[in-house]
Amino acid sequence: MDKKIALLQDKIKQAQLGGGQLRIDSQHQKGKLTARERIHFLMDEGSFEEIGMLVTHRSTDFGMEREQYPGDGVVTGYGTINGRLTYIFSQDFTVFGGSLSETHAEKICKIMDMAMKNGAPLIGLNDSGGARIQEGVVSLGGYADIFYKNVQASGVIPQLSAIMGPCAGGAVYSPAITDFILMVEHTSYMFVTGPNVVKTVTHEEVTSEELGGATTHATKSGVTHFACANEIEAISHVKKLLSYMPQNCEEIPASLPYDLADESRVLLDQLLPENISQPYDMREVISAVSDSGSFLEVHKDFAENIVVGFARLAGRSIGIVANQPAYLAGVLDSNSSVKAARFVRFCDCFNIPLLVFEDVPGFLPGTDQEWNGIISNGAKLLYAFSEATVPRITVITRKAYGGAYDVMNSKHIGADMNYAWPSAEIAVMGAKGAAEIIFKKEISMAENPEEKWLEKEKLYSEIFANPYRAAERGFIDEVIEPAQTRIKLIKAFKMLENKVVNNPRKKHGNIPL
Ligand code: HXC
Repeated sequence: MDKKIALLQDKIKQAQLGGGQLRIDSQHQKGKLTARERIHFLMDEGSFEEIGMLVTHRSTDFGMEREQYPGDGVVTGYGTINGRLTYIFSQDFTVFGGSLSETHAEKICKIMDMAMKNGAPLIGLNDSGGARIQEGVVSLGGYADIFYKNVQASGVIPQLSAIMGPCAGGAVYSPAITDFILMVEHTSYMFVTGPNVVKTVTHEEVTSEELGGATTHATKSGVTHFACANEIEAISHVKKLLSYMPQNCEEIPASLPYDLADESRVLLDQLLPENISQPYDMREVISAVSDSGSFLEVHKDFAENIVVGFARLAGRSIGIVANQPAYLAGVLDSNSSVKAARFVRFCDCFNIPLLVFEDVPGFLPGTDQEWNGIISNGAKLLYAFSEATVPRITVITRKAYGGAYDVMNSKHIGADMNYAWPSAEIAVMGAKGAAEIIFKKEISMAENPEEKWLEKEKLYSEIFANPYRAAERGFIDEVIEPAQTRIKLIKAFKMLENKVVNNPRKKHGNIPL
């Protein structure tokens, strides 16, 4: 028996070495961790159990049968993160550059099936040169098997992708289907075609970093939700993100214990500037209302005119969507609509209640927006809120103008509770523009048109630039003092915790993609 155990131990040792010490050293020299080190930092100590450590590839072309590495370039298994069961695959760049063979794909699919069957999140740590070139179409088939399972798992279990190295070609589509992407600055990149192909086809000269690095995708394309300074930061973001989510779509997120104390937040009474055209940072409202230090912003550097992220309210996990008056006056445009819509849908998939802070002057006008589909993109947000069945609450802090009033989780599209601060202005548009349109003749014929315009602006303002018309109709449930916002929200979300909504039976809706 001793000999047999020694043989097993040898095999394990060999598998743990991946592509060998030289390649491990090269990985470290690039400032990257190995597949196993990443798992070590991510999972609770001693909790990781590997599955498929001895799997090898079946390829025989190009003498591949002589080059075998147990595990075949991906470490798969399960363990716990902060005590919660999680499944993981971690690509090993030291073995054929982490490239995806038939068996490598099978290992990932097996873990995905187990995650779905057992209702636990799946985390993918990606570091791969793409399709295993020696295997040809078999490898492409393996990718498609993964994509298919990503889609099956979507909305069933949370799926998170951390990009720790190259991720190119069709390989990018697996992370793109998952719920959240995290990238590491300077050592990871994602693109459909690399700089060489770009140069040949479009004659553009661009580096990998410019084309598909973490900063590019965090600011320009919005493909990644987080750009992390290093791998350790990415791993700690994965852990934090998971803490707001339930294990699967049948569960609710775990709450932290919380004893109510003095929940008034008097600083909110003074936060808004007197002048309605002056900006303020909506993040200050979010911080004051949510549990101290609990706000985790998602997509921070993309479409900054809307802020989305997770927070806790009296220990409960919530998703926040908030217009940001400090950036483009908080206007809704294509990017911000899509960003918010995707976040709303994630929260709805996983029973995370939604809180909306609204201060929006409307949709952004212009040819750029119209030609880039602001109609369909704005409709995505409208659709996402309308179909969401989780508890939904809106607080209008200031402007709620035009179509944006309807879209931003209004009572009319199914919000459960709608609050407004006394500073709220709920109208078709701002008083100045409204006066110009409806009193056009009167203003132009006046002896002093400027004075007349001001007079009419004041009139419109008195009638509509407040929350009371909407409150009289019941579109606003309560006008509240800003300082009372937190306690009102705590009570309302508690009141809504057993909410049940049955939407009409259908196969699936047809969101305007
Ligand atoms: C097999 C691969 C490989 C691949 C890298 N390697 N990519 N082996 N298939 N796709 C191997 C290398 O031969 C090398 O082996 C080791 O991994 C490390 O690679 P290096 O080139 O030395 O590393 P580096 O300089 O860091 O460059 C990394 C890289 C580069 C940028 C990823 O290797 C590269 O460009 N690879 C090819 C990428 C590619 O074109 N993939 C196919 C894309 S198409 P040794 O033995 O020397 O350690 C695709 C389609 C998917 O993926 C479609 C899905 C629908």
